[in-house]
Amino acid sequence: MPTTAQTLLHLDASARRRSFSREAGDAITDAWRLSHPDGIYVHRDLARTPVPQIDEAWTELCDYVLEHQITDIARYREAVHTPAQAAAWEVIEPLLDELVAADVVVIATPMYNFSIPASLKAWIDQVTFPKMSLAGRRFVVAYARGGAYGPGTPRHPHDHQERYLRDFFTGHFAIPEEAMTFLGTELVNSRVDPALASRREAHNASRVAALAAAREIGRAL
Ligand SMILES: Cc1cc2nc3c(=O)[nH]c(=O)nc-3n(C[C@H](O)[C@H](O)[C@H](O)COP(=O)(O)O)c2cc1C
Repeated sequence: MPTTAQTLLHLDASARRRSFSREAGDAITDAWRLSHPDGIYVHRDLARTPVPQIDEAWTELCDYVLEHQITDIARYREAVHTPAQAAAWEVIEPLLDELVAADVVVIATPMYNFSIPASLKAWIDQVTFPKMSLAGRRFVVAYARGGAYGPGTPRHPHDHQERYLRDFFTGHFAIPEEAMTFLGTELVNSRVDPALASRREAHNASRVAALAAAREIGRAL
């Protein structure tokens, strides 16, 4: 039986449309929408409609929040004092409202250069303020990557995609491990790189497992 989650925020970050992270993210949210017909579904495509990088005015808002020990997100707007800060706040506010309203945040993300795309990092930079807690929410990450980075693989230490998001959600957003789920498709480059052709079956198996887990999690959220 589904829980009482009412609002789901779905972020996409792949630069391409035929994307394995999009596919896994969609499997989660399609299942969630079926099992939550009255739920509120919000989708933001960070690759197709990028959010800007933070600017100097953003850093001023951040410093004010820290200096005045403002931890209540609803009070962040008190930091706005100049036209440039008002312009920065205009970018932040809708992003933050979407995030705060969400019971569940589904992030579909490729691995780019061992980490997350700049489009997703720009969103994190915009919405994150000092000592901000998002406890009570659930985070689900649907990733895709060209190689294999699981525990025990030679590349595991280079995984700054899952590792970074896990550390950030627990360390900054105060999300407990049990409120986070990571799933995804590995070895995607075996589809294009002849040197990885022998890993194509492992890739297919990873994709099938990721989609099954995605549907299951989407239903159960
Ligand atoms: C700019 C760029 C950087 C990439 N860097 C890596 C990498 O460091 N490690 C890796 O395993 N795959 C890497 N890849 C491959 C992607 O992770 C892979 O194609 C994945 O499927 C992309 O996600 P998507 O299918 O959702 O677009 C990179 C791809 C691109 C376009």
